[in-house]
Amino acid sequence: MKTALITGITGQDGAYLSEFLLDKNYRVIGLQQPSATPNTQNIDHLIGTDYFETVVCDITDSNAIFRILKNINPDEIYNLAGQSHVGLSFDLPDYTAQVNAIGTVRLLEAIRILDLKNTRFYQASTSEIFGNADHSPQNEDTPLNPASPYAAAKAYAHHMVKIYRESYGLHASCGILFNHESPIRGAEFVTRKITKAVVKIHKGDQKNLALGNLGAIRDWGHARDYVRGMWMMLQQDIADDYVLATGEQHSVRDFVIQAFKHVDINIIFEDDGLDEIGINSKTGKKIVTVSPEFYRPNDVHSLCGDATKAENILKWKPEISFSELIKDMMDAEINA
Ligand code: NAP
Ligand code: GDD
Repeated sequence: MKTALITGITGQDGAYLSEFLLDKNYRVIGLQQPSATPNTQNIDHLIGTDYFETVVCDITDSNAIFRILKNINPDEIYNLAGQSHVGLSFDLPDYTAQVNAIGTVRLLEAIRILDLKNTRFYQASTSEIFGNADHSPQNEDTPLNPASPYAAAKAYAHHMVKIYRESYGLHASCGILFNHESPIRGAEFVTRKITKAVVKIHKGDQKNLALGNLGAIRDWGHARDYVRGMWMMLQQDIADDYVLATGEQHSVRDFVIQAFKHVDINIIFEDDGLDEIGINSKTGKKIVTVSPEFYRPNDVHSLCGDATKAENILKWKPEISFSELIKDMMDAEINA
């Protein structure tokens, strides 16, 4: 039986990856951030089941990381722990670097110094490292051009994984993942913020939804498809970096329109910039507004991934479409 260690076990990807690996008969050990009131809602259904356990460890604590890696000597490590909110990273650049950049180096150093020869390493890299790229779609050869403290920290980690692979022969791969969402996506990310608000507005529990940059364009896939790709990367004989993406783009505005359709509300947008509003075409009520509060000091306006390398080498392809993703998120929200 193989043992996988997952950092960031309580997050969206940690939960889906755990389910995926348990189905493949792995023993899964998750690192969970210390907290007086643990945040385990995404993994509560796994806690207490066979071959699943959690260990308290903050990714900023080198000693704890060394002790745990020495005890477990895992076959695979998936480094998903992250301060993952891009907007928040402008307020917390130091912490974001400690977690997203140096946290990765702590794990790489532990593998190297403890001489864990059989351990394969996956790094949660991100499309954000491309920033506002000169060309589209972006692939593994696109120059890095980070536009936020989050992206700069992830770019540093991305480079360090390559450096450890080339300098010390570590089996270490980066998954350059474009946005992926699900019903358990954190509520502070735009897709989940939208699906939650749409249901509340439909029920009359909320008047309107205030958003930031409605024109931002993303390549949105489903997290279940993306965790499968992470595992596929670590099954390769040779470690390498891979883009995982759908190659399809939608604006935040379009996501809003599609989500409201699920509750039979047709929304029409008028005006632009901070004055833009979304109106319920039947009632004439203003149900979407724009607030400067949700704008970032610098935003990535458009991302689109080219996953040809993953398709050719890993035989990975996303199986869940954009409309199925929204349906999954909306159905879960309506049933909650
Ligand atoms: P998420 O839901 O925000 O999960 C992040 C996880 O990291 C949580 O379990 C969180 O714990 C943990 N964490 C945060 N700070 C920590 C620390 N100091 N020590 C230990 N654990 C810590 O993010 P996700 O969507 O699952 O994404 C997983 C990883 O992929 C992240 O690194 C993210 O940056 C990256 N990524 C995500 C996407 C995407 O679209 N989802 C795309 C590309 C890359 P708590 O639950 O206790 O906060
Ligand atoms: N969060 C948020 N809230 N974003 C908003 C809002 C709002 O009210 N209104 C507009 N947006 C815009 C953001 O400015 C951004 O351009 C886009 O919606 C997506 O924002 P997020 O959902 O917060 O995701 P992200 O693209 O910044 O980052 C996510 O994807 C990255 C991969 O590309 C995160 O999961 C990162 O951790 C990940 O690396």
